[in-house]
Amino acid sequence: INFCTPRERKYILEVLVNGLKRLEYRGYDSAGMVLQIDGGNSTNTDNKGPPIAVIKQRGKVSALEEKINSKKLDFEFKFSTHTGIAHTRWATHGVPNCVNSHPQRSDDNNEFVVVHNGILTNYKSFKTFLQSHNYEFESDTDTEVIAKLIKYLWDNRESETIQFATLVERVIQQLEGAFALVFKSRYFPGQCIATRRGSPLLIGVHSKSKLSTDNIPILYSSCNKTNPDETVIQLYFFVKSMELLSTNQSMQLCRLNSTTELVTQNGESEGIEFYFASDASAIIEHTNQVIFLEDDDVAAVVDGALTIHRVKRGKSTESTTRTVTSLQLELQQIMKGNFKSFMQKEIFEQPESVVNTMRGRMQWEEQRVVLGGLMDHIDEIRRCRRIIIIACGTSYHSAIATRQLIEEMTELPCVELASDFLDRETPIFRDDVCFFISQSGETADTLMALHYCKKRGSLTVGITNTVGSSISRITDCGVHINAGPEIGVASTKAYTSQFTALVMFALMMSEDRFSKRKRYLEIVNALKELPEKIKEVLTLDAEIKKLSDSLYKKKSLLVMGRGFNFATCLEGALKIKEITYMHSEGILAGELKHGPLALVDVDMPILMIVSKDNVYTKVQNALQQVVARHGRPIIICENDDEESVKYASHILKVPHTVDCLQGILTVIPLQLLSFHIAQLKGLDVDFPRNLAKSVTVE
Ligand code: G6P
Repeated sequence: INFCTPRERKYILEVLVNGLKRLEYRGYDSAGMVLQIDGGNSTNTDNKGPPIAVIKQRGKVSALEEKINSKKLDFEFKFSTHTGIAHTRWATHGVPNCVNSHPQRSDDNNEFVVVHNGILTNYKSFKTFLQSHNYEFESDTDTEVIAKLIKYLWDNRESETIQFATLVERVIQQLEGAFALVFKSRYFPGQCIATRRGSPLLIGVHSKSKLSTDNIPILYSSCNKTNPDETVIQLYFFVKSMELLSTNQSMQLCRLNSTTELVTQNGESEGIEFYFASDASAIIEHTNQVIFLEDDDVAAVVDGALTIHRVKRGKSTESTTRTVTSLQLELQQIMKGNFKSFMQKEIFEQPESVVNTMRGRMQWEEQRVVLGGLMDHIDEIRRCRRIIIIACGTSYHSAIATRQLIEEMTELPCVELASDFLDRETPIFRDDVCFFISQSGETADTLMALHYCKKRGSLTVGITNTVGSSISRITDCGVHINAGPEIGVASTKAYTSQFTALVMFALMMSEDRFSKRKRYLEIVNALKELPEKIKEVLTLDAEIKKLSDSLYKKKSLLVMGRGFNFATCLEGALKIKEITYMHSEGILAGELKHGPLALVDVDMPILMIVSKDNVYTKVQNALQQVVARHGRPIIICENDDEESVKYASHILKVPHTVDCLQGILTVIPLQLLSFHIAQLKGLDVDFPRNLAKSVTVE
């Protein structure tokens, strides 16, 4: 599509900047953009094709936007091709600054430029090789190697007619590690090539006239006749595809023609826009039709037509069709609404997000739990020898929170931290069932552990919040927690939904066990009342805000508890660390006397979680030990706990629920506390320093 008017050019800049803002939660230490400028009267004197403008800025996307606006970019009125690339960075190699931000380029003339999400593990040897061939490096990034390598292949090409996508295919054959890449080149104006391995990448397809179910694009694959090892997947429109597919008249295709327009069966033509993005939030305001690329797909948009190439590796049985998925995501779900921040919005969404996790799965009248995504494998899961739950960060805490119940209801062990699990090369057997919990479904450590377990033949189960994410696609079966998009870097509603989903799983595993029946029914009834109780906890907000006043200048905060509430201590301390930058530690109250007690004095802020469960007396002991050392604990306890109140410097009362769900009610005050402390400190809760929401590197 050639955009010629200034309005359309402005549109492209806006699409790129807005898309970046939506992806900012993935990284925000610097941002950059690439636009191709048309030859026109700009300086296209070197026969390298239309120049490419690169704009980069340290800091958040708004800083890049200001730079773009302040520059009064002269190319705004000169570039005619519609392609642009934008990137927001979370530093892995090289400090956050302009030079290290993306796009990275092949040379001063920007002959090849690339943006990268991921991390390369073999870049050093290529850097040495390229330096020895006089390619000069300007940044400290691993990504720059990619830009230089493609230029090296171009400089040493065997044929003048080599295609851009072919160069990219050759580049990725050399790369090790994880990547999602988007390339542009001055030599290939009007073209944009994207590829991935390990890191997520999707293509949004937007047709100017709305796509209806009568007119859904699907991807069709064919073998390249000149090179049978290469599969080419092209975009076609099926007219009335639903019926055609079901009646198998699959050859009534209308293909995407080469003049960038789509011609449907009835002869109408429509313009299409393609968007490459790390996740759907960047493009959802333009389209909900997406294609999830698979590892080693090379997608090329050439003059507005999309093809996906892949080179067969060995006796590969990889799928060679790509379907276009219609996402349910609504724009409004990724907007802040009336809240100050995404985190605050997400904390207050929990009464609904937990309902959404249970919707259609808790069959209240029959007192049954049906997790549809596990049905096909439930017998196998019930027969397994071990359940291994693997996750990172907050997701890991949701596993800790529910481990005790899962062990109780299934009489099987245990939980694992993804990075540590891999470091130890933990033995995994075919009769293990491995769960992978991940809000994003893309966390590199979790994903690698998934590949590790798959290779060893275990059944893999995903618990994710992102439809179409790598973990949800690679696992054998799974559960979407349906909490809705979570944007705040500090996870809140995803935690309570993961928690709920895992409790439902424990119930589903034990529904036929007579010995567990009473317990089962107690939990089902408690789940029913849970959303109302969450609402009640949220009314503590004003009180917690006041409490934050007395805490926000402190250096440290200890959070103590045990049993079902230990996960709340870990998760609460993580929230405090993540967004307030205060030191905080979640302490197992049983371990208090083995070290942490030395930290206790009249000044040390201590928060204790006390529930009337099987460890109540033991937690009371810990409370006494703290008070005897002049500690002045803030206590989170149940409404009717008159005993604990006596020792508290401050008390936050939450409603009572069944022991194994109490952690959902005790964690929310800590989410609120961290939020208010961060606000008082003037910190940006949605974008805490040094962190990113979705960590797609090891
Ligand atoms: C990052 C985020 C955390 C998150 C963790 C695991 O560290 O900042 O909030 O808990 O990754 O993410 P996942 O998407 O796998 O749940």
